[in-house]
Amino acid sequence: MTRRVAIGNNKGGARKTTLTIRLAEGLAKLGKRVLVVDLDPQGDTSRRLGWTDTLTEITTSEIIAANSEGVAAQAIQAIGWNAEYADRIAVIPARYTLEDRATEAKEPKAWRRLAKALKNADHHFDYTLIDCPPSLGHLTHMGLAAADYALATTEPEHDSVKAAVKYRDFIRENREDLGNPELELVGVVVSGYDQRIGAHKGQLDGARTRFGDLLWGVVPQRSTITNADEFARSFAEEKDSAEVRAVFELLAARLVKEIPA
Ligand SMILES: Nc1ncnc2c1ncn2[C@@H]1O[C@H](COP(=O)(O)OP(=O)(O)OP(=O)(O)O)[C@@H](O)[C@H]1O
Ligand SMILES: [Mg+2]
Repeated sequence: MTRRVAIGNNKGGARKTTLTIRLAEGLAKLGKRVLVVDLDPQGDTSRRLGWTDTLTEITTSEIIAANSEGVAAQAIQAIGWNAEYADRIAVIPARYTLEDRATEAKEPKAWRRLAKALKNADHHFDYTLIDCPPSLGHLTHMGLAAADYALATTEPEHDSVKAAVKYRDFIRENREDLGNPELELVGVVVSGYDQRIGAHKGQLDGARTRFGDLLWGVVPQRSTITNADEFARSFAEEKDSAEVRAVFELLAARLVKEIPA
């Protein structure tokens, strides 16, 4: 029985995709089997996991359009990382056509379609991480309707923290209508922290006050992370990654503690 976690913030660039794939990596290293669902038409998660689009694969767009229970099983694919734990991570990839699903928002119970697609399709994983787009629109509604838990990520900057708060409040205000009345924000990660920037310190303090125990940790701004994402590499394939690897392993351990599988 998998635990599904929707990773969100409606601010662009809040580090959602990086958190999603590096949590998947940390969880896989702990021996967990992880499915990553790319729910963003940008397809960044898919590319950074080393998945290559030959335009024949079944993606998130097709499984949502199918509106059929369990159809997601047909879209689960291997990732392209060269790491010994990579076979414990799988992806349901996305391409830009996922954008077309937004036009179906007014169709009856369209917000349920991802949950419907995943039903009995991801049960053999320990965790299903859903990388939401930078929006609180229909695609994110489907992610939240399918999720058991919500996790936010934010840069240590005013607009990003504000958007993380909005994500939390949006969940509280809409979870009944999304058929998921128990859904709660279980954690917040601050990412891209640069101690040389005064505003970052102020916003990190603010996030600590605002989120309290929900703040799972802080990821520093590091070129190793940008490079690994850029070249679609695991940290095992990235030089000098020991520091950032340790940061995400701690976050993965926290996830397992908060959401035991
Ligand atoms: N801690 C970090 N240090 C350095 N670079 C980082 C860090 N976290 C993420 N990045 C880089 O910052 C950029 C934005 O991150 P990412 O794509 O994860 O944000 P996002 O919230 O998913 O964006 P979008 O809203 O477009 O989906 C990427 O180039 C990523 O590699
Ligand atoms: Mg993203």
